[in-house]
Amino acid sequence: MRITILGGGGFLGRKMAARLAAEGHLGGREVSGLTLFDMAEPAPLEAPFPVARLAGDVTDAAALARAIPEGTGAVIHLAAVVSAQAEADYALGLRVNLQGTLAVIEACRRLAAPPRVVFTSSVASFGGGQAANLPDDARQTPANSYGAQKAAAELLLADASRRGMLDAVSIRLPTVIVRPGRPNKAASSFVSAILREPLLGLETTLPVPDDFRVWVCSPRRAVDWLTHATAMDTAPLGLDRGINPPGLSVSVAEMLAALTPEQRARVKREPDATVAGIVGGWPASFTADRARRLGFAPQDGVAEIVAQFLADDLAATRAERGL
Ligand SMILES: NC(=O)c1ccc[n+]([C@@H]2O[C@H](COP(=O)([O-])OP(=O)(O)OC[C@H]3O[C@@H](n4cnc5c(N)ncnc54)[C@H](O)[C@@H]3O)[C@@H](O)[C@H]2O)c1
Repeated sequence: MRITILGGGGFLGRKMAARLAAEGHLGGREVSGLTLFDMAEPAPLEAPFPVARLAGDVTDAAALARAIPEGTGAVIHLAAVVSAQAEADYALGLRVNLQGTLAVIEACRRLAAPPRVVFTSSVASFGGGQAANLPDDARQTPANSYGAQKAAAELLLADASRRGMLDAVSIRLPTVIVRPGRPNKAASSFVSAILREPLLGLETTLPVPDDFRVWVCSPRRAVDWLTHATAMDTAPLGLDRGINPPGLSVSVAEMLAALTPEQRARVKREPDATVAGIVGGWPASFTADRARRLGFAPQDGVAEIVAQFLADDLAATRAERGL
């Protein structure tokens, strides 16, 4: 199977590519080639199959045609402008998150055989806030432009699936922690920072109260879900192509409990109404029953998430940041 990862130079794109390179197959099928596509040419990857690395814009039809050539079996569409940036720059968010997905649909419908498209939607496509424990049939009532763009993209991918242009699975990812590297422009950046920065020996700020709850998953589990979504039988999905995967609902206090007292002291309380306003609208929990039935593995606990960060990403993060 030939696979293309759009946004292949980003956090989850690199993780997904590394998993494919390590395993060489996906869902029992051999990976015959991988294309990594991003704004800047993604970094080289050692793999048991050919890897093409392309620079381009996901809204550019010609660039996408090169990234999604005839014979592509799966497109993992991760290219996006993240939450706080899409809120700050409405036109950019609309262009990349909505028109970019329309361009992906256009590129896929040219192919002789409809490819699997795995799209990363988000918990931010829902409202509900701290009190929510959303069932699988909850309506998407986003409280920010990023979430609205993700929900709109999901609808268009579901319609394209119904029409047989492609075969989409949209995974509404929780906040993925611990994100390696540096803080980013996502409103949820602090959720990783309150673990990552103290583990690096650095101070960080907490913009929300300690009892604030957030729906999270680890990078490893996010990649498990993207892998499962790429390989699964989509017949049981019918018209409903959106999946609420089984993440973990956890409070800030529960996250900080995974640190030593010395590490915890590096987290400074600095309430931020803008950040709290965005993340406060995201639901803190989902029942995720359908995803469990469909074989999506549940997220394990915060201790495991921290241990995985230490094993997978601490050294690279230290090196990247010159620490
Ligand atoms: N990380 C999370 O916590 C989280 C949570 C929910 C959903 N998601 C979604 O998962 C996906 C991957 O997230 P991530 O954390 O890896 O983000 P990321 O920002 O690290 O990666 C996204 C990539 O998309 C690329 N990109 C942006 N605009 C582009 C354009 N116009 N053309 C081509 N590429 C473009 C960026 O350069 C970047 O490398 C995104 O769609 C995001 O919305 C992530």
